[in-house]
Amino acid sequence: FEFTAENLERAKKVIAKYPEGRQASAVLPLLYIAQKQHDNWVPRAAMDYIAKLLDMAPIRVYEVATFYTMFNLKPVGKYFLQVCRTTSCWLRGSDEVTETCKRKLGIDIGGTTPDGKFTLVEVECLGACVNAPVLQLHDDLYEDLNAELTEKLLDSLAQGIVPPKGSMIDRQTSAPVGGPDTLTT
Ligand code: FES
Repeated sequence: FEFTAENLERAKKVIAKYPEGRQASAVLPLLYIAQKQHDNWVPRAAMDYIAKLLDMAPIRVYEVATFYTMFNLKPVGKYFLQVCRTTSCWLRGSDEVTETCKRKLGIDIGGTTPDGKFTLVEVECLGACVNAPVLQLHDDLYEDLNAELTEKLLDSLAQGIVPPKGSMIDRQTSAPVGGPDTLTT
């Protein structure tokens, strides 16, 4: 493993932000760059490469990569679906979103479809509670979901069409049950 020329430039810029002798501080952003470059997962070879680049013991890089759940240490599907399961999303029906994914894709949480297209995981708060329930696809958030909208999202992705990120609430004729239109003042 090695960074592409473009990513190596990016990595050098990140490293340069830290004081001399403190380049190890760049380990997180470099792992992130590696993951983006390598189909959304970080192989051991990438950790070794980063250790060399930052003059760190490889074990220190493994420690960081294995601590943060946002680094995938094994291959994931082309579409990496992360459903938020924390309180706001749970109260607003994240179970429905997860169940729809499981049923439509025929996989369990942590699973990948046999064609390698989808991986489904559950994650903690994605910081968009105001539009719960939320699903993150790679770096993009799909918000205000319900079962029907989740199904539509999955159908689009199955056809290779990635819908615009953001609130899904305006993309159907009526708001999901419990949506803002049901609030009373
Ligand atoms: Fe789901 Fe915060 S609880 S985004």
